[in-house]
Amino acid sequence: MSISYQKETGVFKLDTPNTSYILGIVDEEKFVGHIYYGRKLGNDDFRYLMRTGENPFVPSENGRDRNSFLDSFPMEYPGSGVGDYREGAIKVRTKQGHEGVLLLYKSHRIYPGKPELTGLPATWGTAAECDTLELILEDKVLGLEVTLVYTAFHQLDAITRSVKVKNAGKETIYLTKVMSAAFDMDNDREFEMLTMHGSWARERRLQRRTVGYGKQSCGSMRGESSHQEHPFLALLEKGANQKQGAVYGLNFVYSGNFLAQVEQSQFDSMRVMMGIHPENFCWELKMADTFQTPEVVMVYSNQGIGKMTRTYHDLYRNHLMRGEYKDKKRPILINNWEATYFDFNTEKLLDIAKEASKLGIEMLVMDDGWFGYRNDDNTSLGDWEVNESKIQGGLKHLVEEVNKMGLKFGIWFEPEMISPDSNLFREHPDWAIQMPNRTPSLARNQLVLDLSRPEIVNYIYEKVAKILRSANIEYVKWDMNRQLSDLGSFGLPAERQGELSHRYVLAVYEMQERLTKEFPHVLLENCSGGGARFDAGMLYYSPQIWCSDDTDAIERLSIQEGTSMIYPLSAIGAHVSDCPNHTVGRKTPFETRGYVALAGTFGYELDVTKIHQEDHDMIPTQVEMYHKYNDLVRAGDYYRIASYQENHEYDCYEVVAKDKSEVLITFIQVMGRANCHSRRIYLDGLDENQKYYIEGEDTVYLGSTLMYGGLQIENLWGDFRGKLIYLKAKVDKQAESDLKFFQS
Ligand code: GLA
Repeated sequence: MSISYQKETGVFKLDTPNTSYILGIVDEEKFVGHIYYGRKLGNDDFRYLMRTGENPFVPSENGRDRNSFLDSFPMEYPGSGVGDYREGAIKVRTKQGHEGVLLLYKSHRIYPGKPELTGLPATWGTAAECDTLELILEDKVLGLEVTLVYTAFHQLDAITRSVKVKNAGKETIYLTKVMSAAFDMDNDREFEMLTMHGSWARERRLQRRTVGYGKQSCGSMRGESSHQEHPFLALLEKGANQKQGAVYGLNFVYSGNFLAQVEQSQFDSMRVMMGIHPENFCWELKMADTFQTPEVVMVYSNQGIGKMTRTYHDLYRNHLMRGEYKDKKRPILINNWEATYFDFNTEKLLDIAKEASKLGIEMLVMDDGWFGYRNDDNTSLGDWEVNESKIQGGLKHLVEEVNKMGLKFGIWFEPEMISPDSNLFREHPDWAIQMPNRTPSLARNQLVLDLSRPEIVNYIYEKVAKILRSANIEYVKWDMNRQLSDLGSFGLPAERQGELSHRYVLAVYEMQERLTKEFPHVLLENCSGGGARFDAGMLYYSPQIWCSDDTDAIERLSIQEGTSMIYPLSAIGAHVSDCPNHTVGRKTPFETRGYVALAGTFGYELDVTKIHQEDHDMIPTQVEMYHKYNDLVRAGDYYRIASYQENHEYDCYEVVAKDKSEVLITFIQVMGRANCHSRRIYLDGLDENQKYYIEGEDTVYLGSTLMYGGLQIENLWGDFRGKLIYLKAKVDKQAESDLKFFQS
């Protein structure tokens, strides 16, 4: 068992291979305090870490100053409104309008394995892989029962948390805030907070700032995880970098509104919390009703950011992603969006497919514009019927023709949306999210369907499924191109309007669950105006997610750096597109675009019948590279060697096979350099004693040489130039003689 409870001290200890998470029950009232999270500890009496020795400690010893205790005690899951002035993790409003919550220990359960979270994505693990603690807290005044659920993984330094709230009282209550994870810890190491921010075409740029007094947070109130901020937060001890230092990562397995916050108090403690954003959230709990929060995945590393990254990658590849494709090489696809936008028909698509098939591309994806009368982005969302004036001969015919060329076929949908100019809207104007008497704001000239209503969910699901049943469709791109506003549902009563955003996300999950069950062989790729729904929630349903509409190789370096800090490369939708790039107008070598897209699912987003001959002719080589390296890229360990975001000159990362027998290094020289020697980079993660062949150079070096002595990379001529370096462990006799300057 990796979780223990010591009855005499009232202390719970959760262990992973290298970390411990400790909490304890104190006083006759049974407050639950956070004791410790970090490097693995042996068994001991840890209670002093809650400052139990400092008098007066608990209210039973000094009831006169109860507030002082509540406002300074390191809480494990803080309530609100009764004397702890730091922000609480949970808020409940009674029918009388009061808002106090104080949670005290009631009971607990420890068992092997991990429970599912009904209706929500979550990491999974068997009884042999993890243990779970359910800590049941109660507020007797409210009749509220709150179960904190913790799972510790045996092989990975990951602990997951979620919360179940039950109205065990006799009156209806309103849950207005419920975080999935919270804890208090001292800021005694000048902690910094690492978060991700961005915009459309600029997703997941990293931001690092010193934690200071008061609250610092990131969050989304846009109905999706968003381009703008990301459901991730890491606390880094001062000076922590890729290779060293303490790092605490929190990632939310959810695709809707979120809040990730750190609050530093007057006594220099930090209250860390993550969960559904409380803004506009209000969930009615009638007698015996329960509410299940999504899950937070916490990863601690004492070997810097890099180790945290690799733990998330392993956890998500092995305990979050599902389905046939999760560990498989994905077909190299060509998507017609940047090739044609809305201007295409059967003939054009077949032209692209024909040319693509000659070059080794394996799937054609028909993007936006094949349905209703959608020739621009102003109409037809909701009218999921094939436009046969564009798709002459029908969809089945098109797919058959594409299949005959040896290509698979994929299709784009945006199921959650409705255009005001659509038959669906003309028939059901009340199906859009909106408030009575207020014209809802358009974005990209579209509105959002009210997915809190089951009849709408069923209607849309059936429309999508009907198309998928009608032809041999092997891939779906599920898009979502605007964020939610004007939150109002004609299907919900007044006291449940605050449930809309979360119900919306639950419905998206339900639809995708249905889709993946009914079409288990279809490869699903989520997307949202590029990468606004690249999150761990979506990863549970689709093994790949479109990372950004920005396919410029240089912009992608930063976008993919942020994304790959948590998510495995096998999930990162990355394509080679045409130049000048459609988003930034930059011209980069085709070769470099290929190198950058290789650190993802790989594909093309261009008109293969029109691009420069030279670029066209390079495709078979890129296809070959993909087949050669993708097994390694998908399953290997990721090391960030240098960051263009930080140094403004070059980017470098590495994927190392689990058995350390292969290494792929990607080096991109963003800025050309004048009058310079070669650049030295220090590799990471190699086997010190292994001899590695550098492909194409016929040189062999020891792992220790390459890691500590470094690898010299010649100065490349010009901007935006790239280089792939492939190392293979040398196992045969030849190695000895090839090894330069090596004396065994
Ligand atoms: C979004 C997607 C694009 C493309 C368009 C189609 O922006 O991110 O890849 O599918 O929608 O409208």
